[in-house]
Amino acid sequence: MRTQVAIIGAGPAGLLLGQLLQRAGIDTVIIERKSRDYVLARIRAGVLEQGTADLLDAAGVGGRMHSEGQVHEGFSLAFDGRQHRIDLKDLTGGKTVRVYGQTEVTRDLADARDAAGATTIYQAEDVVLADFDGSAPKVRFTQDGAFHEFTCDFIAGCDGYHGVARASVPPAAIQLFERVYPFGWLGVLVDQPPADHELIYANSARGFALCSMRSATRSRYYIQVPTDERIEAWSDDRFYDELRRRLPAATAEAVKAGPSIEKSIAPLRSFVAEPMRFGRLFLAGDAAHIVPPTGAKGLNLAASDVRYLSDALIEHVSEHSEAGLNAYSTRALARIWKAERFSWWLTSLLHQMPGASPFEQRMQLAELDYLSQSRAASTVLAENYVGLPV
Ligand code: APR
Ligand code: PHB
Repeated sequence: MRTQVAIIGAGPAGLLLGQLLQRAGIDTVIIERKSRDYVLARIRAGVLEQGTADLLDAAGVGGRMHSEGQVHEGFSLAFDGRQHRIDLKDLTGGKTVRVYGQTEVTRDLADARDAAGATTIYQAEDVVLADFDGSAPKVRFTQDGAFHEFTCDFIAGCDGYHGVARASVPPAAIQLFERVYPFGWLGVLVDQPPADHELIYANSARGFALCSMRSATRSRYYIQVPTDERIEAWSDDRFYDELRRRLPAATAEAVKAGPSIEKSIAPLRSFVAEPMRFGRLFLAGDAAHIVPPTGAKGLNLAASDVRYLSDALIEHVSEHSEAGLNAYSTRALARIWKAERFSWWLTSLLHQMPGASPFEQRMQLAELDYLSQSRAASTVLAENYVGLPV
């Protein structure tokens, strides 16, 4: 079997790339290890930069994002018993973010792909990539016990951190950068109105906390926990009690508890792989980089990778130019490293580092105090939060 671009992974990166290429008349096949239901059931963050929202519109899948998503013009920092609002719109000359769950984005993309009749192969096992250093890369896999092979012009590795694409690259050809944080996020999803109409990021002596939402009736809360924490140790009551202890009194009061409909612990990691191109294999999204969720950059970085890669592939097919393909890795990494820095900085500012000295804790509070009083400092925060130029 043949296709122009074989995409490994039907997460948001793979589906968005497939959608943009299909709309440009380029044939793609997506090969996914899990089932459609599994992929669409994953609970993930949901803050979209304007650039990501624009790309979803360009891909023709922005309808629900506009009708069901929320535009946020700011968010708050809570520390030392008080709260300070970061006015994104004022500090960035009018830029905002959109709150719309990644689960919904992935669903919109999967539905659009099915509606277009494009091929997505779910539950593909033993996926193997071959010959991507030559002119006719191949993807082999089994499904329901039958062997299949696609020959293609390019392979897009959109298969996440644990995928086969990056693992297929010879170790000598790739450089890995990683920082694993000594804590995780315990998250709860609950069908209750949010504590505030905007997000609240809290630094407290007991650890980080985040008040977020999916809609006006569904809230998402996170608290920092040690990496070896067991989910069984956390009843809903204990969760809400600990969350409220980390928030200023008025916000704690506003948290409406309820039975959790999802509860999980996610590790925090910063990770980058360089380069992101190996012959005719291109990495995009979590396959090449991970950010801690503090800055809500994961999906947005995947989207900007896909913007650069789809532009480059369309340019190659329509103008027979290699320019975009040759520039892809450098261009994507330049934006990725800035978002990695921002996510690492915000994580370091808002979390309690095990073993941190009282002096280090005061440094965090002094920086938060400075952020709350300096337009220059809060502009830097706002400009990174809404998304740096693509
Ligand atoms: N073969 C086929 N598919 C695979 C394989 C494999 N060997 N390994 C993994 N996959 C699939 C996974 O099952 C998953 O559906 O690749 C997909 C990768 O999707 P994501 O992990 O969502 O990665 P990406 O599309 O890059 O999205 C990045 O996801 O984790 C969040 O914060 C992150 O928001 C960011 C976004
Ligand atoms: C979320 O709503 O899940 C969320 C929002 C902002 C973040 C991280 C997660 O920074």
